[in-house]
Amino acid sequence: MAEIVGGIGTSHVPAVGAAIDHAKQSDPYWAPYFEKIEPARRWMAETRPDVCVVVYNDHASAFSLEVIPTFAIGVAARFDPADEGYGPRPVPAVTGHPELAWHLAETLILDEFDLTIVNEMTVDHGLTVPLSVMYGQPDAWPCRVIPLCVNVVQYPAPTGRRCFRLGQAIRRAVAAWPGPERVAVFGTGGMSHQLQGERAGLINVDFDLAFLDRLVEDPEAQAEVDHETYLREAGSEGIELVMWLVMRGALDTTVREVHRATHVPTSNTHNGLLVLENVEGRDR
Ligand code: DHB
Ligand code: FE
Repeated sequence: MAEIVGGIGTSHVPAVGAAIDHAKQSDPYWAPYFEKIEPARRWMAETRPDVCVVVYNDHASAFSLEVIPTFAIGVAARFDPADEGYGPRPVPAVTGHPELAWHLAETLILDEFDLTIVNEMTVDHGLTVPLSVMYGQPDAWPCRVIPLCVNVVQYPAPTGRRCFRLGQAIRRAVAAWPGPERVAVFGTGGMSHQLQGERAGLINVDFDLAFLDRLVEDPEAQAEVDHETYLREAGSEGIELVMWLVMRGALDTTVREVHRATHVPTSNTHNGLLVLENVEGRDR
């Protein structure tokens, strides 16, 4: 039986990807951030999940305003990095897991989560930067990846509660898969940030730290927080944080917090990283 070994929450700031791609990790601006994420990378190297379900949002790279799926799952064998305006990032192509992805699609849709099934798409910084955060620059990504897209770009995004319930359904679906895969679930995006308008550059450290505390300790309560609160407190792009609730829903009720780091500055975003481990057998 497949199992979920842990969850990772991380921002997906494009500049972090560029810093890695252009070997700037030791620059004075970047070194403090990359030092803080080192324990998470060590956990990833020790834990070595076979499959990562990466919950992320596409930023009008694979999709556009013509087609806006609320939830979509990539079932392809391969996903190439998207060209986001400066050419694709020089990172490996992502290897999918079509069998498990189709199982998730089937199980989740029959569980009343109506995912759009995507046979072909490219993956943008929302997915590739979190992989770079956790794995650095390998020649090939050391895990298979199932992309799971959430629309948080065009109103209305799904509620935090819906995202949390989707995570719980993913947990059930993985538990029903007969293969031996050890699965990690990523929730990406956030933390507080606003990229445009009068409040561009908004960062709300207090809100973000309270979000992390509640996500770990009382995710049901965090799942009740409404869109307006995210918008007001965490800025227009802070709504990306609802994707961390998918990750949290896929984990045990009680989890072990392996690592937490937050950092300013990385571009315009309060950058957060959280690694949670399922505590085996505690509440199964
Ligand atoms: C930034 C953050 C994002 O989540 C994103 O999608 C694009 C840019 C930023 O901080 O620059
Ligand atoms: Fe984003």
